[in-house]
Amino acid sequence: MFQKENLKGADISIDFCGYKLQSPYILSSGPLTYGAEGMIKGHQAGCGAVVTKTIRRAAAVNPVHHMGTVNQDSLINCEKWADSDREEWYTKEIPEAVKAGCIVIASVGHTLIEAQENVKEVEKAGAHMIELVSYTEDTLLPMLDYTKANVKIPVICKLSGNWPDPVGTAARCLEHGADGICAIDSIGPTLKIDIEKARPEMMSGDGFGWMTGGAMRPIAMRINAQIAGNHPDLTNLYASGGVMSADHAIEYMMAGAMGAGICTVGILKGVEHVEKMCYDLSNRLKELGYNSIREVNRAALPNFPKKEHVSKLDFSFVPFKEDGKKKCISCGKCETVCCYDARTLAFPEMRVDPDRCRYCGLCLDVCPTGALTAELAPQTEEDLTLEEVSRKFNESVN
Ligand SMILES: Cc1cc2nc3c(=O)[nH]c(=O)nc-3n(C[C@H](O)[C@H](O)[C@H](O)COP(=O)(O)O)c2cc1C
Repeated sequence: MFQKENLKGADISIDFCGYKLQSPYILSSGPLTYGAEGMIKGHQAGCGAVVTKTIRRAAAVNPVHHMGTVNQDSLINCEKWADSDREEWYTKEIPEAVKAGCIVIASVGHTLIEAQENVKEVEKAGAHMIELVSYTEDTLLPMLDYTKANVKIPVICKLSGNWPDPVGTAARCLEHGADGICAIDSIGPTLKIDIEKARPEMMSGDGFGWMTGGAMRPIAMRINAQIAGNHPDLTNLYASGGVMSADHAIEYMMAGAMGAGICTVGILKGVEHVEKMCYDLSNRLKELGYNSIREVNRAALPNFPKKEHVSKLDFSFVPFKEDGKKKCISCGKCETVCCYDARTLAFPEMRVDPDRCRYCGLCLDVCPTGALTAELAPQTEEDLTLEEVSRKFNESVN
């Protein structure tokens, strides 16, 4: 069970939509929040808030099978919304979770008529916030207008990265009075073929499913950064998509999100794993020099390049640690990934052929121990930017 007293580093609590959350991890709407029991487990593991499985007019009947792996840290699913009746959410699941101390966000989907049926009821049941989710922006905005006019609790809009302009949708939701934004929902439609059976693995109506986990993180990261960048005062933004570790949560915070939704990591590692992610987050923030999430929030936004940086990398290679033990473990990954055969490791020597190296930087990312690092060399007069290259190219072909 998560205990705040066991945190050794930075404070990991956040203020979100007027509530103090014990951690920035928000257990996203999904199979782990099928009912009070799952939500309470999430709360006990350290989640700052829990989002109910999406409540709709009628309970879902799911196809079999409806969840599978895409790779080690990503899933495909064609699971529908909550498979229990909405009355059960009002009378049992939400009140029980609230009573146990969870900050409960009721997920309501997917149409205006369903928002009209559900939002006042979930507020009465004790939900602290509402998260609206829909298939299109055209449906989400009327749901938001109705909800804002009829409930007092904060309303979050969950955006989809599959929509043409989720960053624009965020702006419109905020104009319509949304108190918070969640970006983003699962990516898709996507497909996985079971090669033993020569058929799609997902047994949805069309064989397609929705992808979650690590594979979607860079898409969600970009959308969160753009939303945060466009709304300097927005603090009630929480990211959803591929938070598999504390470091991923910090990435999102630096890109402008205050909270970090989690679903796939809890499915693959058990929701209890969130407890470790809380302690890791506290320690890692401290190591990086931050005392709180407030401090790290938006830290990367001023550092986005204003224009293309064209120069070289100044590599450093440290074969041994201070205690004399090997820092470079001679795994050879830096050599393997070099497409240009520029790098040769003859431990404890590391050579780079400057005529072959294109300074792509991949060797740095794959070094598992940090023995190989680099700084950006300053851009000099001789370094041509892409714009200059394009101008010269255009001049030569015109
Ligand atoms: C099996 C499964 C079921 C899901 N069901 C819902 C749902 O009912 N409502 C919803 O808003 N999001 C649903 N999601 C999406 C998650 O809330 C979350 O946005 C998404 O999984 C991305 O986060 P992750 O990479 O941490 O999993 C579901 C995800 C999974 C994997």
